[in-house]
Amino acid sequence: MKIIGTGSALPEKVVTNDMLAGFLDTSDSWITTRTGIHTRHLLSKETLGELAITAAQAAIESSGIAPEEIDYLICSNVANSYVSPSLGSILLAPLGCCCPCFDLNGACAGLIYSLDIADSFIKTGRAKNILIVAAEEPSRFCNWHERETSVLFGDGASALMVTEGEGFKDFRLTGDTHTDVLYYKRSLETTPFDRVEEKTMPLVMQGREVFKLAVRACIKDVDTVLEHNRLKGDDIDLYLLHQANLRIIDSIREHLEQPKEKFPTNLQNYGNTSSASIGILIDELSREGKLKDGMTLLLSAFGGGFVTGAALMKWSEIKYKDTANE
Ligand code: ACO
Repeated sequence: MKIIGTGSALPEKVVTNDMLAGFLDTSDSWITTRTGIHTRHLLSKETLGELAITAAQAAIESSGIAPEEIDYLICSNVANSYVSPSLGSILLAPLGCCCPCFDLNGACAGLIYSLDIADSFIKTGRAKNILIVAAEEPSRFCNWHERETSVLFGDGASALMVTEGEGFKDFRLTGDTHTDVLYYKRSLETTPFDRVEEKTMPLVMQGREVFKLAVRACIKDVDTVLEHNRLKGDDIDLYLLHQANLRIIDSIREHLEQPKEKFPTNLQNYGNTSSASIGILIDELSREGKLKDGMTLLLSAFGGGFVTGAALMKWSEIKYKDTANE
């Protein structure tokens, strides 16, 4: 499997740390030193579906694949206003697609989980062209009276078109149960047999625990993929890691003893956009012409569960209309 098209979309509204300090007991210096985040884009006028469609259309256009040639749509999403129908099915008609689709909740590792499944579908001949859309609105899970979580997240969408090819070399996915450290709970309807009313619980996070789990898990995944493929850290051209916190990325980089230039980041501008983050990074780097033919990339992400995913791939350049990479 290889990536042949990319897209991303962010909400228009840019929220700075100073704007947050206007209603939360926080400061620009606390947020930037603890996380590296300066701004985030938050949904205000647009819907998540609209963002997802914009990102998907860009991926379709850059791939040269017609919507009707898409065999499957996989939508990575943690939560949105609809429990049913799936977000994937909401996207089909506006995109001009009529293929099978499903939503996948792999938390922030959802894009890598989606890539792994797409790779299996392609390898077994179940599908040839697969559109993966990662669309997330974590700002809508947060309690905006709590500074511990709300400052960390941003909304966004990314999309990748994949097809048969020689790009992806290896995947490693893991899962474990650590519910208490990171969860968002929605209330369900009561029934005549179960009248215990559950309350919606905005995102609860034990930040320090998540930090440790994330660093440990990412290092293990990256080391395992390197070892499995008989590679050294030096053999990787770029490490594309989940954009949650600059200090998490720095800890992994220090373990690998690799230079900063190999760890591109955009969390400074967007905060943590959950499973959309690596796709947004790929789209930006590719459109800026920073992903060259034959580059070896290592993707790694972690998220609520605790689940993690890593992927090793060789990049093939994509030609975009009206960009530096044309
Ligand atoms: N502004 C100012 N002060 C704050 C803020 C804030 N926004 N948030 C917490 N504080 C305070 C705390 O109350 C605490 O005060 P105290 O010392 O008086 O008790 C102090 O800052 C230190 O708090 P810590 O939680 O120890 O700070 P830490 O250095 O661990 O940084 C952070 C917190 C940024 C959340 C860090 O733990 C982290 O990044 N964890 C991982 C988070 C993450 O990646 N989550 C998502 C992963 S999964 C996914 O992507 C969905």
